[in-house]
Amino acid sequence: MNPIRLVQITDTHLFGEESAALRGVATLPALRAVLAHAAPHIEAADALLVTGDIVQDDSAGYRHFRETFAALDRPVLVLPGNHDEPALLREALHGHPAFQFCGHRDIAGWRIVLLDSVLPGSASGRLSEGSLATLDRVLGECRDRHALVCLHHHPVSMSSQWLDEVGLENSADFFRIVDRHAHVRGIVWGHVHQSMQAMRGGIHLLSTPSTCVQFAPQADDFAIDPRPPGYRILQLDAAGGIQTEVVWLDRFAADASSPSSQRSSSAA
Ligand SMILES: [Fe+2]
Repeated sequence: MNPIRLVQITDTHLFGEESAALRGVATLPALRAVLAHAAPHIEAADALLVTGDIVQDDSAGYRHFRETFAALDRPVLVLPGNHDEPALLREALHGHPAFQFCGHRDIAGWRIVLLDSVLPGSASGRLSEGSLATLDRVLGECRDRHALVCLHHHPVSMSSQWLDEVGLENSADFFRIVDRHAHVRGIVWGHVHQSMQAMRGGIHLLSTPSTCVQFAPQADDFAIDPRPPGYRILQLDAAGGIQTEVVWLDRFAADASSPSSQRSSSAA
């Protein structure tokens, strides 16, 4: 059986205004540069995975997201982040067959679970009792598959004090459920604007850089990392293995930046 190919795109932080920037990076041009760079991977992908912070507190940005991703002609699996309004995001994607908002999607021998970890009014995340129960159920009913669990907030420490104060508040509850299901092979998130790859037992733990600005790894206080936009490619094997790599746009041109229109916004 052929492996499943995914491209993860995260933390696009779009605005309604096309040229608006977050901390010096114009977010829609940066996203377009990422998608152009990733085009060969997207063409070969079974789906795109988008793990939240689609807009920067500006629901007018959802129009750009819908138009940009609908044009890619691939299934787009979407979950919200703390800078999104989940109801408005769901509404913005409604009616177009390319988009799936939360829930789960079965592709070949895998189940991909999309969680909503948004805690309204907070940069931190939390899975509701209902979400935890749904996670337990959707994992329990697919024991013949491998599972990839996706959410916005990091469920493990990033070794970064300020980021660890805005992670998943009830990660112990989350892992209590994950640990009941031995067929979970990977957990993927956004939110932290940096790449991390680790193992927890047999489970791959993966964070992915933003398509715009990055945060410095292992920093106790908020700090920008000058690394360029990035994305992650994943290959999910029939036997349950995950091959994955982060791709950085090392030649990302400074002309996508426009510090003059920088917005002051909360970080993650
Ligand atoms: Fe973000």
